Amino acid sequence: MANTQKEVPIGEKDYLWLEKGLAGLGFFAKLDLKVLSGILPCIRLASFPKGRAVVSEGERGHCFYLIYKGGVEVRKVGWDKPVARLGAGQFFGEMALLFNEPRSATVRTTKPTLCFRLHSADFNTILRKNPSMASRIRRIAAARRRELARH
Ligand code: CMP
Repeated sequence: MANTQKEVPIGEKDYLWLEKGLAGLGFFAKLDLKVLSGILPCIRLASFPKGRAVVSEGERGHCFYLIYKGGVEVRKVGWDKPVARLGAGQFFGEMALLFNEPRSATVRTTKPTLCFRLHSADFNTILRKNPSMASRIRRIAAARRRELARH
């Protein structure tokens, strides 16, 4: 994976987006800020050019991604149209980690994109310490899985 993404330093403004912006977007609204501070050192900001596959269908998953800037398209073999398009504040890569399954789809950038990236161990720590957030992510992941199964 090292040759497919570039790590960029996280500045104060980026941390502020993580801490405050996410609450505004409603997703991490209930995330315990103490837990977040503990996890911040483990978060990396990864930069991808347009057209890059960040995760590939069938591969083993190691990371969770939260889109900071840019956008991605979710595609699955056998589907003629994209499964979904995701943008800033949305996440991907949770399914393989939650369900302990290979990546369910390929997620490719549709423009230059910055993502906050968390390794599975840190993702699991956040979920363990934030049950309400965990159930929210699980609900979204389950809905995404149902959508894939409907095809
Ligand atoms: P994962 O299976 O780890 O890797 C591919 C990702 O694509 C998956 O996690 C989800 O984050 C995302 N994905 C799969 N299906 C959908 C869907 N129906 N809607 C939005 N995102 C999806």
